[in-house]
Amino acid sequence: MGTEEDEKMGLLFGLLWLFTSFLQGVHSQGVYASPTVRIVHAGQACNVEEEQYSERVYTIREGETLELQCLVTGHPRPQIRWTKTAGGASDRPGNLSLNSGTLKIENISRHQGGRYYCKAENGLGFPAIRSIRVDVYYLDKPVITVHQSDDEAKEQFYFERTVFLRCAANSNPPVHYTWTRDREVLAEGSDSGVEIYKPFFTQGETKILKLKNLRLQDYADYTCIASIKNACGIRDRSTHFSLNNRTGTKALRSTNREN
Ligand SMILES: *[C@@H]1O[C@H](CO)[C@@H](O)[C@H](O)[C@H]1NC(C)=O
Ligand SMILES: *[C@@H]1O[C@H](CO)[C@@H](O)[C@H](O)[C@H]1NC(C)=O
Ligand SMILES: *[C@@H]1O[C@H](CO)[C@@H](O)[C@H](O)[C@H]1NC(C)=O
Repeated sequence: MGTEEDEKMGLLFGLLWLFTSFLQGVHSQGVYASPTVRIVHAGQACNVEEEQYSERVYTIREGETLELQCLVTGHPRPQIRWTKTAGGASDRPGNLSLNSGTLKIENISRHQGGRYYCKAENGLGFPAIRSIRVDVYYLDKPVITVHQSDDEAKEQFYFERTVFLRCAANSNPPVHYTWTRDREVLAEGSDSGVEIYKPFFTQGETKILKLKNLRLQDYADYTCIASIKNACGIRDRSTHFSLNNRTGTKALRSTNREN
């Protein structure tokens, strides 16, 4: 055994040792690190639901400001990208400003609800991605439309007129309706001449008040109150309709005005 070969082996092991400790050093100093992502909220959401299927739900009132910050770690510094649907670079989330990882939507509209993704990428490992859901709450003023079935074609003694007051309001979450007649709440079954029901074949939320065989007391002031039960601090909204001699005849007019 020559000492020359021992020296060679020693040198080789030494180099190997140097190389591995260099790698360990690099690793422990965190010079290279694959990205991580965390989303924090700094806007006006009225409710933040805790992680559900690893995704937070931010409830916000229409018109408020949504501000989400994407906090990333990693080296080299990851590129941050916000998208509204998964991976879709072309789907820019509406009227927003992007500033160093912050997604800011002022005066958020009902159409801007949905799922938002923050993706961080630095070429190491897999890109890190996080999503959240934004639920925009709103309640429009209800609209009353009036219909009547006019059975005057029938025999005079079989004169019958039924009036339908239909109330509809766009909202999220679904709206609850209350009908009042001269400030008195009309409940199901409280008056046999009145029927309250929800039609089957209409889109969105609507409620119909059916006044069967118009009676004297049916000539009154009606109010439809739409409510989402103060969700996100959104107040009830109402619309008024006055059924009288003029509006109660053929030329029914809806005098929609807010209370
Ligand atoms: C975006 O917001 C700005 C003000 O923040 C407004 O002037 C502009 O009309 C908005 N654009 C759209 C498409 O909503
Ligand atoms: C907010 O957006 C709505 C449309 O979604 C627009 O009508 C309204 O003027 C905007 N308000 C402000 C303060 O920009
Ligand atoms: C209006 O209706 C009331 C009862 O509904 C009736 O007593 C009154 O005569 C009517 N007035 C007119 C001008 O038709």
